[in-house]
Amino acid sequence: MTETWTIKRLLDWSHTFLERYGSESPRLDAELLLTHVLQLRRMDLYVQFDRPLQVDELTAFKGLIKRRARHEPVAYILGTKGFHAIDLAVGPGVLVPRPETEHLVDAALAFLREPDSPEGPVVDVGTGSGAIALAVAAALGDARPVVATERSPDAAQYARKNADALGLNVPVLEGDLLGPATPHGPFAAVLSNPPYIRSDVMPGLDPTVRDHEPHLALDGGAAGLDVLRRLVDAAPTQLKPGGLFAVELGSRAQGDTVAGWLTSAGFRDAAYSAIGPGPTGLVQARWPG
Ligand SMILES: C[S@@+](CC[C@H](N)C(=O)[O-])C[C@H]1O[C@@H](n2cnc3c(N)ncnc32)[C@H](O)[C@@H]1O
Repeated sequence: MTETWTIKRLLDWSHTFLERYGSESPRLDAELLLTHVLQLRRMDLYVQFDRPLQVDELTAFKGLIKRRARHEPVAYILGTKGFHAIDLAVGPGVLVPRPETEHLVDAALAFLREPDSPEGPVVDVGTGSGAIALAVAAALGDARPVVATERSPDAAQYARKNADALGLNVPVLEGDLLGPATPHGPFAAVLSNPPYIRSDVMPGLDPTVRDHEPHLALDGGAAGLDVLRRLVDAAPTQLKPGGLFAVELGSRAQGDTVAGWLTSAGFRDAAYSAIGPGPTGLVQARWPG
């Protein structure tokens, strides 16, 4: 007699299978893909451990597991990723927003809610799926205009689709860095999670990232700072007095370099702060005024 595929048995099998194929989070991946097929919450999988799967459910799940075994990001397979308080559509051509970047959103919101922060709009440079711009806009309501820029037309399409789905009026402007946003400035805050991975590190990245996510979103050049260098140069003329410059980057060394550039450019209080235990961090600085 063949053994029935219950939720528990399927999760145990998928865990082992995805582990063998190099997933760093095989159990979580399997659970997320199964909740997607069964339209359940993760908690329900545990409540319904002994539920047998129908043939069509099994077929659909095995298709998704095979995609994951080829290192396709789970968020691309699901077509969505939760970020801060919003859900964003994602897929090939756009970076999957990372939880670390929520710290940049929180830092920006804390600044923008200070009673003495300057009036005026916010800009997110290199918005990808719209993550930072839309999370800030969703949290602020109508309090301030938010605009976003993006060099990749594919990513800009995702950001626009996400803005529409969330009912947020955030223009997504295609072009280089702050250029297309200039008519909307000067800004109370310039925010960015730019590409900051060193080119020599790119070949060794996890294949889920290296082989699927856009290199325009990842590769920051020899020191990982090509985009950041140009953004630091461009920001002073685009900021209001007292405005915030806040960016994510990949290491303390990068952070110290960028903080030094900002200080040389006339910013005050430029400082790096680590995000959690990993190397990722933020640099924040204020334009004088
Ligand atoms: C690390 S991703 C961040 C995406 C999104 N902000 C997030 O946090 O999920 C960097 C983004 O910057 C965009 N980008 C790269 N160079 C750019 C440039 N010169 N001007 C505007 N956007 C750029 C990439 O296409 C990518 O979407």
